[in-house]
Amino acid sequence: MAADNPFLPTFGTSPPVLAGRDDVVARFTRAFERGPVHPDYTMLISGVRGVGKTVLLNEAEDAALRLGWRVVSVSASVPGLCRQITNAALEHLREAEDGRAPRRISSVNVLGVGVAWTEQPVTEAGIAVDLRSALTSLAGHLADGDTGLLLTVDELQAVEREEATELAASVQHIARRELLPLAFVGAALPEIDETLLTDRGMTFFQRCARARLLPLERSDTQSALRKPITRAGGRIGDEALELAVDASGGHPFTIQLLGYHSWEMAAPDRHITVKHAQAGIFEAEQAVLDQIVKPIWSGLSAIDRSFLQAMSVDDADSEINAIADRIKRSPNYAQTYRRRLIDAGAIEPAGRGKVRFTHQSLRPWLRSQQ
Ligand SMILES: Nc1ncnc2c1ncn2[C@@H]1O[C@H](COP(=O)(O)OP(=O)(O)O)[C@@H](O)[C@H]1O
Ligand SMILES: [Mg+2]
Repeated sequence: MAADNPFLPTFGTSPPVLAGRDDVVARFTRAFERGPVHPDYTMLISGVRGVGKTVLLNEAEDAALRLGWRVVSVSASVPGLCRQITNAALEHLREAEDGRAPRRISSVNVLGVGVAWTEQPVTEAGIAVDLRSALTSLAGHLADGDTGLLLTVDELQAVEREEATELAASVQHIARRELLPLAFVGAALPEIDETLLTDRGMTFFQRCARARLLPLERSDTQSALRKPITRAGGRIGDEALELAVDASGGHPFTIQLLGYHSWEMAAPDRHITVKHAQAGIFEAEQAVLDQIVKPIWSGLSAIDRSFLQAMSVDDADSEINAIADRIKRSPNYAQTYRRRLIDAGAIEPAGRGKVRFTHQSLRPWLRSQQ
């Protein structure tokens, strides 16, 4: 690998250029500054795998740290979510009382931060501390010092119901009712709209402000590719750039892969031509297949799969009605599967009555499976 490659095709890692997300960043930054009455003070970010949700949580955390806030950053895909947040809050409270500088306590780099994540926290008198009282004490303390706490929860679609209920009740009470400075940003796959958010008792999450992340616009995709290249002392021809932009579909993870592999193809020259872009696209598509498409596929039902197989017959966008015919179902029935497959990140709307594959590598792969 060329040591100077500016692209970062790794989940959860901030990109060299964060393109097209200024509006979302501005929304939460303004909310942190304005305080708990701001509608974006509790926010839910959703979007398909690789669209840039975790990166935006990192941005929110950085914005909060810049304001001198404390940050708790957890993922709902690990067990004991509320206990983890409770322990992190108590650790922050101790540090705040000792006058130590604000920082981020995260479940990702938990080793070495001195927080006992899995133990049930207790007071000096031996009484169990629950999430709500730990967060209330911390937020109350921070309010006195005119600062705040940001809680981010990633992978919220994977949360256990009991944990979700406790978390919702606590944050709702502290931020919305008591108006204490506890801001919340969650991130989830779009399926959350059909799962957690349909449950009774999840009003808090239903009422969070929403940021639905879409693929990047063409001009943002261009700068996400070109800026890192020029900043690293390289260049990319217009035609090569257009090829890469088209192949990415505006999908941020694919953009990083394309940039990365095109750069490698050009190394050590740093001048990316059409030939390098084509070879880079080929490499990137293999990686997208392994890291995104196959994981999506393994989570699909037999009917979801037959819908996609029926689409792979077409060389370009597919008509829903034609798909319905091919899988011998009614158009209404096909609509249900259309929605599910969009949420899963397998397909995208392509104008009236049409859909297309989100990742172009899915078509040849499906054809090779038959
Ligand atoms: N706005 C963006 N512009 C360019 N690259 C991005 C952008 N957002 C995310 N990425 C890149 O896309 C990849 C996936 O981002 P990540 O936040 O992990 O996605 P998600 O959490 O939605 O699955 C990472 O390599 C990241 O650097
Ligand atoms: Mg993520």
